[in-house]
Amino acid sequence: MNQHTPDLLRCPIEPRHCLILDGGMKTSGHVQDGTLSCGKCASRCVIQSGIPRLLTTHDSAISDIKHREMTSRDRSYRDRKATKFTLRNGELSELDAFSQGIGDCRGLDAVDVGCGIGEMTRVLHRAARVAALDFSFGALLNFNAPLQAPELIQADACRLPLVDASFDVAMSSRVLEHIPTADLRSAFIGQVDRVLKPGGRLVLSVYNWDLGRQKMRILNEGFHESRIFYTVTMSTNCGPTCSGTWTS
Ligand SMILES: C[S@@+](CC[C@H](N)C(=O)[O-])C[C@H]1O[C@@H](n2cnc3c(N)ncnc32)[C@H](O)[C@@H]1O
Ligand SMILES: [Zn+2]
Repeated sequence: MNQHTPDLLRCPIEPRHCLILDGGMKTSGHVQDGTLSCGKCASRCVIQSGIPRLLTTHDSAISDIKHREMTSRDRSYRDRKATKFTLRNGELSELDAFSQGIGDCRGLDAVDVGCGIGEMTRVLHRAARVAALDFSFGALLNFNAPLQAPELIQADACRLPLVDASFDVAMSSRVLEHIPTADLRSAFIGQVDRVLKPGGRLVLSVYNWDLGRQKMRILNEGFHESRIFYTVTMSTNCGPTCSGTWTS
């Protein structure tokens, strides 16, 4: 963690509270291990392997379903490294779609919410500052996108411990569909909205419940074999929570 990262971080219990870096070993401006304490409440979070761990254990918003997903993701990311393809020759069309949606991010501050090991975060490689956030610590330990000094943060996307209006661009690929309730999905969008600067841009992908899937009677909500929750979205359903351009 960069020694200036605490300027970007907030208490995971109440994002109006600032965090203070207590001690910790600093080497060339990098903090590898230490503690972040809230200036106003009793919350204390550790920095481990250079990653601030801003999940609160007594947080009821981290439901059983989320805990199960965190454990499952930790396991699946344990021995994986992000595949190495270049943007120009990218094989994933989703990568190209994100790249186009985000546009030229030179000089901008960006955040990837639910970054996994960074397979999609690489589209932010021109941004001035990149925060990459996931609730799987295993994912962050294996984060491997070609970016200059990304700020890796362990946190819940539905409770972003980040300063208001601090990013020009937010991206989130294949995450919202795993948030287990409609209220939490609204919280997710609300939190991203809060940390974006006015006029900031969110580029988001979700599972699409297309006609083919409806005809095949694939359920619009359920659990994958890994027991990870999923829900699917129709673009017509996106109106009440947010506005913007939706393509499927
Ligand atoms: C399907 S993976 C996608 C990873 C990455 N965005 C990509 O496109 O390669 C979903 C990711 O979202 C993360 N995730 C799910 N729910 C989350 C939450 N509430 N807070 C933070 N991360 C979450 C998971 O740990 C996982 O890394
Ligand atoms: Zn606090």
